[in-house]
Amino acid sequence: MQLTNKVAIVTGASAGLGAQCARDLAAEGARVFGLARRKDRLDALAAEIGPAFTGIACDMTQEMAVQSAIEQVLETSGRIDILVNNAGLGKFGPADTVSLEEWNLQMDVNLKGVFLATRAVLPTMKRQNAESGFGGHVVNIASVAGLMGNPNISTYNATKFGLRGYSDALFKEVREDGIKVSCFYPGSIQTEFFDKAGIPISANPMMPEDISATLVHVLKAPDNYLISEIVMRPLRPRG
Ligand SMILES: NC(=O)c1ccc[n+]([C@@H]2O[C@H](COP(=O)([O-])OP(=O)(O)OC[C@H]3O[C@@H](n4cnc5c(N)ncnc54)[C@H](OP(=O)(O)O)[C@@H]3O)[C@@H](O)[C@H]2O)c1
Repeated sequence: MQLTNKVAIVTGASAGLGAQCARDLAAEGARVFGLARRKDRLDALAAEIGPAFTGIACDMTQEMAVQSAIEQVLETSGRIDILVNNAGLGKFGPADTVSLEEWNLQMDVNLKGVFLATRAVLPTMKRQNAESGFGGHVVNIASVAGLMGNPNISTYNATKFGLRGYSDALFKEVREDGIKVSCFYPGSIQTEFFDKAGIPISANPMMPEDISATLVHVLKAPDNYLISEIVMRPLRPRG
C-alpha cells in the first residue's frame, strides 16, 4: 500500500513508539490520527508534525471513548486504511504481589483496547475492500513477551501472548476481506515504558525509529504480500 493520503490511526501516540510511528507515517504522506489520554502531549506532537496529525484524547480501556474516537476519524476523513494498536504498558513484579488493579489495567489496555479499536475499524475496512479490492492493514504491537515467559512479568506475558492469539486468528479471519493483520514482537525499545514497568531498561535497547521504519516497510508491501509476524531484537542488549 502506498501511504500518500492514506488514513492511519495510531493508539498510544503521545509517547515512545507510537509518537515515532505518527511522525514517520505523516512523513510518508499519510493523514494520521493519534489516540492517547495525555492531550497536552498529543498537542505538542501536532505542533511538531503539522496538519497531517490530529490528536484525539482517548482512554483505550473505555468502549464509548474508543467508539467515539473512531467515529471522529471517519467523520473527518471518510476512511480508515491503517490501525496501529500500539497503546500498552507493563507493571512488573512477582506473581504473588500483582494487585488486581495492575492485572486489570494491563489486560484492559493491552488486550481490551486492541479489541475495541479493531472491532470499530473492521466494518470500514470491509467496506473499502468491497469498493476497491483492498480493505486496510491492522498492525498489533505485542512484544517478545508474547513469545516467551519470564519471571516477574507474568501478567504482561499473559496480555502479549493473548495479543498474539488475537492477531493470528484475526489474520486468518479477515484476509479474504482484503485486510492485512501483522503482529510485531519487539525486544527492549528506548521509551518511557520502563519508568512505568518498574524495572531498569537494558543497557543498549533499540530505538523507536528502528521499529517505526519496519512498520513503514511492512505497510508499503504489495497488496498480495503480507508480513504477518516480525521479531525484533537489539543485537547487543548489554552494550
Ligand atoms: N519499550 C519497550 O521495550 C517495548 C518492548 C516491546 C513492546 N513494547 C510495546 O510497545 C507499545 C508502546 O510502548 P512504548 O514503549 O512506546 O511505551 P510508552 O513510551 O510508555 O508509551 C505508551 C503509550 O501508551 C499509551 N497508553 C497507555 N495507557 C493508555 C490508555 N489507557 N489509553 C490510551 N493510551 C494509553 C500512552 O499514552 P497516555 O499515557 O497519554 O494515555 C503512551 O502513548 C506497548 O504496547 C508496549 O507494550 C514496548
